[in-house]
Amino acid sequence: MERRIPKHVSIIMDGNGRWAQARGKERVYGHFEGVESVRACTEAAVEEGVEYLSLYAFSEENWNRPAAEVETLMGLMMKSIENEYETLMRNRVRFVVLGNRERLGAALNASIDTLMEQTAGNDRMTLVVFLSYSGKWDILQAMKKAAAELGAEGVQRLGIADVDRYLVTAGIPDPDLLIRTSGEQRISNYLLWQCAYTEFVFTDILWPDFRKEAFRAALDEYARRDRRYGKVK
Ligand code: FPP
Repeated sequence: MERRIPKHVSIIMDGNGRWAQARGKERVYGHFEGVESVRACTEAAVEEGVEYLSLYAFSEENWNRPAAEVETLMGLMMKSIENEYETLMRNRVRFVVLGNRERLGAALNASIDTLMEQTAGNDRMTLVVFLSYSGKWDILQAMKKAAAELGAEGVQRLGIADVDRYLVTAGIPDPDLLIRTSGEQRISNYLLWQCAYTEFVFTDILWPDFRKEAFRAALDEYARRDRRYGKVK
């Protein structure tokens, strides 16, 4: 029997700081290595036929980290965007950033827009990077958008299925599989609405060590799950 491949895999990349500290190095060193895991998992996802890979790269709460670490993470994002253009084009990967973009700097926003435009026509996989994102922020901005567009009476007529189109993930299917690395077992204000029926896989592997083999193992675990969506089969 063919192995069931999730259409949308999402990852909470965790454990960079601990990975570095375990080696007696600065936390940022873990983020540098983490970028290699991003590359490896993107490649593995393309090879496996995953249609959407999304990554929780920076939460709204992460703004409260020391300024130097925030700066390093934003710099890494900028550098990755500059470096990965060719690989994304070669693999026909569309690049999308979602989150509270107003909080990102003008230079980073401009680079993000350029890469999103350049890769907009790629059709093999979509790589979604959540930056300055939180699930509660997403639901709140959806409420405001719906109210502005529909007015109080229109909002009263909204059904559950209508909510999707006001979330920043509009048009992207809900994750089938959510992976969280580093032994933590919580959702941490990530895709709250969108994960209603998502399968979770938790692993003790720290993000900088999470490479192709680990990604494939998570897909194997997903293939063994029995998804019932609250129904009896
Ligand atoms: C969690 O580890 C990781 C992050 C907050 C940042 C993840 C970002 C990257 C891997 C860099 C770039 C991403 C892209 C898409 C190019 P942590 O610092 O919370 O680790 P800890 O829990 O051990 O402290």
